[in-house]
Amino acid sequence: MAEPNFAPGLEGVAATHSSISNIDGVAGLLSYRGFAIADLVAYSSFEEVALLLLDGVLPSAADLGEFDRGLRTHRQVKYNVREIMKYMPVTGHPMDMLHCAVASLGMFYPQQELSDAERENTLHLDAMAMRIIARMPTIVAMWEQMRFGNDPIPPSPDLSHAANFLYMISGREPDPAFAKILDSCLILHAEHTINASTFSVLVTGSTLTNPYHVIGGAIGTLAGPLHGGANQKVIEMLEEIGSVQRVGAYLDERMANKDKIWGFGHRVYKTRDPRAAILKDMMEDLASHGHLRHSRLFEIAIEMERQATERLGPKGIHANVDFYSGVLYHEMGIKADLFTPIFAMARSAGWLAHWREQLADNRIFRPTQVYTGEQRQHYVPVAQRS
Ligand code: ACO
Repeated sequence: MAEPNFAPGLEGVAATHSSISNIDGVAGLLSYRGFAIADLVAYSSFEEVALLLLDGVLPSAADLGEFDRGLRTHRQVKYNVREIMKYMPVTGHPMDMLHCAVASLGMFYPQQELSDAERENTLHLDAMAMRIIARMPTIVAMWEQMRFGNDPIPPSPDLSHAANFLYMISGREPDPAFAKILDSCLILHAEHTINASTFSVLVTGSTLTNPYHVIGGAIGTLAGPLHGGANQKVIEMLEEIGSVQRVGAYLDERMANKDKIWGFGHRVYKTRDPRAAILKDMMEDLASHGHLRHSRLFEIAIEMERQATERLGPKGIHANVDFYSGVLYHEMGIKADLFTPIFAMARSAGWLAHWREQLADNRIFRPTQVYTGEQRQHYVPVAQRS
């Protein structure tokens, strides 16, 4: 029998057909449903982008209003989920908490599998997706309060998705400029073709399990430092560098040890990730208008990008989205271990759009392997083994 093709990391292997988003890794372009990411950041909102990703078209004002009202209505999380969270170690990483809490939601809305009729009912799937997108920020914010011994701050139905999250983690209605920054970040992180966590959505979803398992698996996949977890690593790296003057020496040491530079490199982009460019411009703009300070870490980040690009750019390795998102959140006063959960809150929209797309034309994922083990071994009973 011919040996199957093997592509490490599935590089270049198309795992699905999809009409949700598209990357041109050479030109450095990203679009959702054909709309350039820069236009969506400039003119849209996370709520509209989530619906665009799920349904494939820009919604009418009435449909967007209905979706937005639904999100606001479904922000509340059951008291029993809070009880489960009470017993989680406060020193645990918020991504671990989010993974457990989202999976636990499935037990309160039990649906072990989807019937054929449900799978074909896009309204039903949209409603399930909306409930998950609505509740993830509440769960993250509840944890942010509970781990410091505070009572969770109930969601406000009067605020947008982004503003409400900032309100729940701080207890104060946010500066509208900050709410707009977070909204833009949520848009930039909402979707990104078949990355590792979205691929996990396709695999898990293809078994017809419930969406809480699907999203729980994706959260676990996103948590790793090679994927979404890199945004926290970037801030830790910049803190470790400590000053603009130390950037060169830090790079020398990392590169001599063949260690990776966090927030750099991408499987698909061979140029600068367009999201990194938008985030950096946004920070410059906000700083020039007095909304953000130009902190030491931001200055180190700029120098780091300059020097790392000089060295790694010729190999096609440039700053990715995680490089500046962490710096931006840091400037907004958000704790570093919340960066990846915020990424997950945003990406839930893209994940659920892919889940819907997968269900519309489902076939269970079952790849093959190149077997490298022994063939016919002779079994020796344990008493006779030396
Ligand atoms: N710093 C230094 N060298 C790098 C980096 C980096 N950040 N990224 C890739 N390289 C080098 C590798 O050492 C390797 O060099 P070699 O050919 O001399 O051995 C070459 O580039 C290819 O690297 P791979 O790891 O094989 O590339 P792959 O496509 O498998 O991985 C990944 C992509 C995981 C993003 C990688 O670039 C990386 O680890 N980056 C750092 C972590 C990070 O920022 N992740 C966030 C990605 S964006 C996101 O998920 C939201």
